Amino acid sequence: MEELKKLIQKAKDDFSKVSELSDLDHVKSKYLGKQGPLTDAMRGLSSLPSEEKPIVGSLINDIKKSIEKALGDRKSEIQAQLMNDQLKNENIDVTLDGKKQNKGTLHPISITINKIESIFNSIGFSSTDGPEIEDDYHNFTALNIPESHPARAMHDTFYLNKEYVLRTHTSSVQIRYMENNPPPLRIISPGRVYRVDSDATHSPMFHQIEGLWIDKKISFANLKWVTQSFLQKFFENDNLKIRFRPSFFPFTEPSAEIDMEWNGGWLEIGGCGMVHPNVLSQAGVDHDLFQGFAFGLGVERLAMLKYGINDLRPFFNHDIRFLNQFKV
Ligand code: DAH
Repeated sequence: MEELKKLIQKAKDDFSKVSELSDLDHVKSKYLGKQGPLTDAMRGLSSLPSEEKPIVGSLINDIKKSIEKALGDRKSEIQAQLMNDQLKNENIDVTLDGKKQNKGTLHPISITINKIESIFNSIGFSSTDGPEIEDDYHNFTALNIPESHPARAMHDTFYLNKEYVLRTHTSSVQIRYMENNPPPLRIISPGRVYRVDSDATHSPMFHQIEGLWIDKKISFANLKWVTQSFLQKFFENDNLKIRFRPSFFPFTEPSAEIDMEWNGGWLEIGGCGMVHPNVLSQAGVDHDLFQGFAFGLGVERLAMLKYGINDLRPFFNHDIRFLNQFKV
């Protein structure tokens, strides 16, 4: 029993020599492990007279507890030491400059679309959208462009298969909206459109904003007021002049090209017209009761004029030096 009691001090001495947590485990098994002296002593109990068994047994247990406590104490000491060392070595100089995160900006086309939308929203047009993969029916047929109509060839369409195309214009959204919403309607719809075309002023993907206003008495005069006020607001110029040039679109009658005054000349910025009765009735709108106008504007053209850019390609080249100039 005297020998066993000495184990406590021996273990404490051994523990105090260890300074790594992982080494502590080794020393622990020397005293408390299956091959250790305490386990041995427990096994030896069976050879003792029965009145001594409980006395020696509880002594062994006490010693075991003391050693476990010494182990736990040493463990806490080592951990505290580690923490102290770490705090000493990892001091932070709070006066140093932080690392700045590069913040992205909205793309100039997104900025332009947001601005166009907010102007139209402010005069009662709500925003909607439609699919970029469009069926032939909504992109052409329902817009009064039947198969073999020459206007189809003018669109330089990307065909996905016989039935589906990448939409060549946002006019398809007019149809989808009229199919699902009874008049009166007043919407705009910005989005990507696609045509087989690529040079300094044409990109195979570009953006349009479609507008549609259908009610009982919407006239050509309303169309002119809406487009003119929009452009004056967009270019922040109350005297900006626009003109309508007679034109043709299968889905409007009469139709016009919208030109605006620029540097002493005229620039085309979109098409418009009174929605063709065929288009209305095809989309389920009673053309004896309702009428209205539609227009389609080129977003890139508006952005180029607004920001004074004369090449379309930098919009889509992902050059961060170009894009970073357009902070909102
Ligand atoms: N969809 C025509 C185009 O892409 C533009 C257009 C013209 C849209 C007249 C209209 C419109 O809504 O009334 O060339």
